[in-house]
Amino acid sequence: MRSTFSLRRYGASHAGRGRRSSGPPTSRAAGGELAGDAGSGVRGGRGPACEPAGPATSCGVAARRRGNALGVTSLVPAQGGSATASFFDVVVTRRVVRSYASQPIPDEVVDSLVTSMLAAPSGANRQAWAFVTVRSERGIRALRAFAPGIFGTPAMVLAACVDHSRVPEHPVSRGAHRLCVAMAVENFLLAAHAQGLGACPVHSFQPAPVHRLLRLPTHLEPVLVVPVGYPAADQPEASRRRPREEVVADETFGHHRPGVA
Ligand SMILES: Cc1cc2nc3c(=O)[nH]c(=O)nc-3n(C[C@H](O)[C@H](O)[C@H](O)COP(=O)(O)O)c2cc1C
Repeated sequence: MRSTFSLRRYGASHAGRGRRSSGPPTSRAAGGELAGDAGSGVRGGRGPACEPAGPATSCGVAARRRGNALGVTSLVPAQGGSATASFFDVVVTRRVVRSYASQPIPDEVVDSLVTSMLAAPSGANRQAWAFVTVRSERGIRALRAFAPGIFGTPAMVLAACVDHSRVPEHPVSRGAHRLCVAMAVENFLLAAHAQGLGACPVHSFQPAPVHRLLRLPTHLEPVLVVPVGYPAADQPEASRRRPREEVVADETFGHHRPGVA
C-alpha cells in the first residue's frame, strides 16, 4: 500500500516499524513541522499541505488551494529536512509509549502537537472539545495520583475533554462528541510520534479529582488523559493486531474479496 502524501520531518529520530527512538529530535525538529510559525501555530503560503505521491488527492488539491481550517498550508518544515517519512509509516509505526526519557518537550513542538490536534474533524464542526496541557512537575505528579493508567514520568500530560456546552441535547450527538475528542487525540498521538515523541491515551483515571485539579468548569468532562514524552531507551514489543480478515470484510460482513484469506 502506498501513502497518498508524504510528511517531511527532521532528523532521524523517527524509527521504522519495531524500532523506538530514545531521544528528542534535533533542535531543528523543534521547528514544528506541523505547526508552521511557532508562535501562532499557523503557517501561511509556504507550499502544499499534502505532497501527492501518486494521483492528485482531494487532500493535496484542496490544501494547495486554501490550506486547512487552521490556516496550515504546509507539512513541510520551513528549513527543509534530511529525511522523509511517509505518512503511512508514521501511522503504522505509532504505538503507545509508557516510559519516558527526562527531556522536556520544546514549546514549538508542543504547539505543533496542539495544531495537529485541532485540525481533527468534528461533528457539524462544533469542536465541542477543550484541552489542558500540564507540563509542571507538580501538576503531572498530582494528575498521576488520580490516573493509575499513567506510568513513568512523562514530560507533559494532555487532558482531553468534551465541552458539553457545545453539544446538542440529543443523546446520539452526545456520544458523537466523544468520538470527536478521540479523533483529535489520535491526531495528537500521530503528530507526537512523527516528531520522535511517545504517548499513550489513558482512560484509566478518576474524572472527579482530575476535574477539580484542573479547575475545569462544569461543562467540561475529561474523557482521556495523554502522557507524552521522549521515549525511554527500552520499549516493549509492539502490540499485535487481530487478523485483518477477522475484522475487515468486503461488501458484507464475513465476505472477503479473492486473495484475502
Ligand atoms: C480509549 C483508549 C483508552 C486507553 N486507556 C488506557 C489506559 O487507561 N491505560 C493504558 O496503559 N493504556 C490505555 N490505552 C492504550 C491501549 O492499551 C493501547 O492503545 C493498546 O494496547 C494497543 O497498543 P498500541 O497503541 O501500542 O498499538 C488506551 C487506548 C485507548 C484507545
